[in-house]
Amino acid sequence: MLHINNLSKKFGKKPILQSISFSVRQGEIIGLVGENGAGKSTLLNILATIQKPSDGNISLNELTYEKDRKDIRKQIGFVPQDIAIWDEFTVEENMIFFEKLAWRRKDKSELKQLCLDMELNKWGEPVKRLSGGMKRKLNLAISLIHDPELLLLDEPTVGIDLKSRKEIGNYLKRQAFHQKKLIIYTSHDMDEINNLCDRVICIGDDPFYKNLLMDMGKDVISF
Ligand SMILES: Nc1ncnc2c1ncn2[C@@H]1O[C@H](COP(=O)(O)OP(=O)(O)O)[C@@H](O)[C@H]1O
Ligand SMILES: [Mg+2]
Repeated sequence: MLHINNLSKKFGKKPILQSISFSVRQGEIIGLVGENGAGKSTLLNILATIQKPSDGNISLNELTYEKDRKDIRKQIGFVPQDIAIWDEFTVEENMIFFEKLAWRRKDKSELKQLCLDMELNKWGEPVKRLSGGMKRKLNLAISLIHDPELLLLDEPTVGIDLKSRKEIGNYLKRQAFHQKKLIIYTSHDMDEINNLCDRVICIGDDPFYKNLLMDMGKDVISF
């Protein structure tokens, strides 16, 4: 279980996130929505331990973000907003490279299976020849090499074709349902958020997304 308690973040004197509190259970998919600049990436970066909050506490199961940073990191799979993979390398070479950086070992057939699980079947293809959707899938596969419990995905489906978007969505649903992962992800596609997420966290002053999702009958918490 992930607990976020009274989390705030300022950049200089500018408050970005203010007193955010919520919890995520195993097997839950949480949508994080809000207008551009609301602080979605900042919140994900904090949950990924890349940035520190100005105030508040976060814990994952029995581990706290203040004291157990190193162990917490082992439990996190993070896909940042900007794709970070080697363009000149093949899918296989990327997976093998990132496996070497991971703390848990996987052999080549397991790495290949991880790609196939999300319908990424271009094992020998250089990344530069893949579609945007395939690159996103590879980024996601890389973040899962060490079997993390908490998945943090920053706009994983932005700007990609509908088929890949559906395949990524279905994959995330399976990960939550069968593997009991905790998933937090951001998107601007409200139909996708509605279909995929159990609950939604809405940040920022603009009530547009909150109202839209509540009209869809969604369970929304806003900050
Ligand atoms: N490292 C930083 N230093 C100063 N301001 C930042 C930094 N990162 C983000 N911001 C500001 O914080 C706000 C929230 O940004 P961000 O979390 O990227 O929003 P979102 O992902 O919702 O579009 C923006 O106004 C952005 O300019
Ligand atoms: Mg962002």
